[in-house]
Amino acid sequence: AKNMLWGGRFTGGLDPLMITYNASLRFDRVFYAQDIRGSIAWARANHHVGILTAAEFASIEQGLTQVSQEWASNTFAIQPDIDEDIHTANERRLGELIGKDVAGKLHTGRSRNDQVATDMRLWLRDRLDEIAAHLVELVKVVAGRAELEIEHVMPGYTHLQRAQPIRWSHWLLSYGFPFASDLERLREVRKRVNRCPLGCGALAGNPFGVDRDAIARELEFDGLMPNSLAAVADRDFVVETLQWASMLGLHLSRWAEDLIVYSSAEFGFVRLSDAYSTGSSLMPQKKNPDALELVRGKSGRLFGAMAGLMMSVKGIPSTYNKDLQESVEPMLDVITTVSDSIQIATGVLSTLSIQPENMMKSLTPDMLATDLSEYLVRKGVPFRETHHISGQVVALAEKEGIAMDSLSFDQLTGVDHRFEKDVMSVFDYQKSAETRAVRGGTSKSAVQEQIRSLKETLSN
Ligand code: ARG
Repeated sequence: AKNMLWGGRFTGGLDPLMITYNASLRFDRVFYAQDIRGSIAWARANHHVGILTAAEFASIEQGLTQVSQEWASNTFAIQPDIDEDIHTANERRLGELIGKDVAGKLHTGRSRNDQVATDMRLWLRDRLDEIAAHLVELVKVVAGRAELEIEHVMPGYTHLQRAQPIRWSHWLLSYGFPFASDLERLREVRKRVNRCPLGCGALAGNPFGVDRDAIARELEFDGLMPNSLAAVADRDFVVETLQWASMLGLHLSRWAEDLIVYSSAEFGFVRLSDAYSTGSSLMPQKKNPDALELVRGKSGRLFGAMAGLMMSVKGIPSTYNKDLQESVEPMLDVITTVSDSIQIATGVLSTLSIQPENMMKSLTPDMLATDLSEYLVRKGVPFRETHHISGQVVALAEKEGIAMDSLSFDQLTGVDHRFEKDVMSVFDYQKSAETRAVRGGTSKSAVQEQIRSLKETLSN
């Protein structure tokens, strides 16, 4: 432990397992560019308050740039015994390149506590922007398909039982809006991710008068973490990201489940493209919706990471404790998972083909029982009564073993004398959809309005 960066007060060595147990370089090395960018900003701030001369700052900046290039070109030689994390590894290497006398001044007034929080926020901010762009693509595909395929009517379900005819586009949009809300929430989360903790030191703040606002500006933060104790203690920005990802995962999972069902032979509403399906090693005929099953399955990982991190941080006393290092891996895993899942979902949705004949075949006259009762409502009969009458028609058709629309006019008037000749016009699925022209409904004009408003959310 003597030769560790922090080894001054130590005489004994570290247990070898403790070295790996404690080390985080194997995963926090992904922050190398953020760590170096933050260090350059930190060195500049220290130059401005006279801790570093202009020459010392220039030397540190040049050395750090070289360290960054070593990481980028995969030539950084890690020393596993002493390179505990990305912060110590970079500083160790800087010392070798420019000499310890100058490199040793870089960490003045800084702690790895404010440093790691800075690195994570910088890294996460950029990933969230990439994810937002992927999500925009997904919503665009939803809106594009909804526009193109607005003609097609299919069964809508409650309890997975045939309920009422709806437009396929209406179904598409029913996920487009939650995805758009996810995008809105993501932009909200980003604001709180993008706040600067640098300059808070280990916990109490900086004694040399560094200008935190200037540091924040250089690093393109939107503002400061306003309290130094909270700045080093805070992993809410990770928790919130994981909660956000869990909600998105929940939407993706339900969406995937619908499409898995719709792509089965029993439904046959959609056919998935080869690019997102796989075969069976045993059954030659199989084409399985693996992409969608993975999207559904991986959502569980997102919830798990969120719950795990919340457990890890809930009982920690004030400011930095090493438990906080446990926030890094779930963050990395969730970001990869969520980014991949959105892109896979977009791929699946943009390449599947619909089978409108099967949608149509699955529509059955009993799905118009509600319309039949509404027919009588329009003749002035109270709905409670019409519901009952239409139910009797359903029962009669069932008893006769025929479809509702095959009952004769006499059979219908036998149930209720208020049925008139025009009653047969009820049995038309397109027409049924068109009657639901209320805002948010399944008529063509209502769906078109939804498409417009979904597209509008993208321009905000
Ligand atoms: N690797 C550490 C982390 O991820 C860096 C901070 C270490 N700070 C400390 N006081 N030990 O949290």
